[in-house]
Amino acid sequence: MTKFRTLDDLSDVTGKVALVRVDLNLPMQDGTVTDDTRVRASAPTILELADKGAKVLLLAHFGRPKGDRVSTQSLSMVIDTVQAVLGREVMFCPEIAGPVVKQTVGILRAGDIAVLENTRFWKGEEANDPELVKAIAANADFFVNDAFSAAHRAHATTEGLAHVLPAYAGRSMQAELEALGKALDAPEKPVAALVGGAKVSSKLEVLKHLVSKVDHLIIGGGMANTFLAANDVDVGKSLCEHELKATVLEILEAAEKAGCTVHLPYDVVVSKEFAANPASLRICNVHEVAADEMILDVGPQAVESLGDVLKTCKTLVWNGPMGAFETEPFDKATVALARMAAALTREGSLVSVAGGGDTVAALNHAGVAADFSYISTAGGAFLEWMEGKELPGVRALNV
Ligand code: 3PG
Repeated sequence: MTKFRTLDDLSDVTGKVALVRVDLNLPMQDGTVTDDTRVRASAPTILELADKGAKVLLLAHFGRPKGDRVSTQSLSMVIDTVQAVLGREVMFCPEIAGPVVKQTVGILRAGDIAVLENTRFWKGEEANDPELVKAIAANADFFVNDAFSAAHRAHATTEGLAHVLPAYAGRSMQAELEALGKALDAPEKPVAALVGGAKVSSKLEVLKHLVSKVDHLIIGGGMANTFLAANDVDVGKSLCEHELKATVLEILEAAEKAGCTVHLPYDVVVSKEFAANPASLRICNVHEVAADEMILDVGPQAVESLGDVLKTCKTLVWNGPMGAFETEPFDKATVALARMAAALTREGSLVSVAGGGDTVAALNHAGVAADFSYISTAGGAFLEWMEGKELPGVRALNV
């Protein structure tokens, strides 16, 4: 496991300049931020540093402008949200290095906060260009990385800076690494992983890694159809990657060798059309899916027995919904299992860690996100972590 310095290792920071990498890649609609979770995640780090008297410069990317200044992707657009979450006035600086940043630092008083421009307006960011790294570092005394969700990128502000300045994990990064370490590096056993979502192809590496790590692998969502089809089950017109049969059989073989039990649904919710509460909806055994039906959720009997599996486990890692949860009633399995996991967590018998884009939405939909032991704000980085990869932004913090 990575050993890293935290804000507890910082001595007097009064008047010192902190470069803090955060994730301000916020969802936005018509120029308005629709979800400020990531700002809230980094608020404790930013406020702690400001309250200790540092001059705080926030670094972040926004979208994928590929080295061009794109006005609709300027971080000036998120300033109002950052100010609202922090409850402080925040300055905006349209550069990330050079004399304009130096001037900004000169204006800031101890405890003030500024957001620098979108780091991806500079080509050197994604190229991790040492010249850009040096130029950004020149205006600061130390570096804090609080953006786990961008730690799978080896970019100048997610990786490079940690090599040229004293580097620390921020509070959100620290919480993320501690929770994830508990879940897969040295978990309390038995461990279950619940992996759902549409496609096996997008999570092949995750599945390959997990079978050697966990005792139970629960497969749901469209992915389950691909597994069922590989076992010669006729899945009708369900979403299915038939071409992955050989790969799925390899995963199942690896699981067997490793002593990992793979759980596939044996009853399912099917319908002839994908719509809310369709007339053709029915529940059936997986061997009874008609040629013109599609599987849209895991069935109630399978959910019940999966609940029993969870009751025997001490740790759960969850990524991806069990069914087409955004359309009712295909949210039932996801909601039921999420509630069971939440109840076991509340009782203290389960450590539950979840992450990934859709997953957080699904757990919020089930109304239990707050009851999980830990919910990661990361999408791609969470998946790479589940693949067992060392994330460059985390590795660079290693001491
Ligand atoms: C995210 O939104 O998952 C992170 O901010 C990383 O963004 P990226 O996929 O554009 O690197």
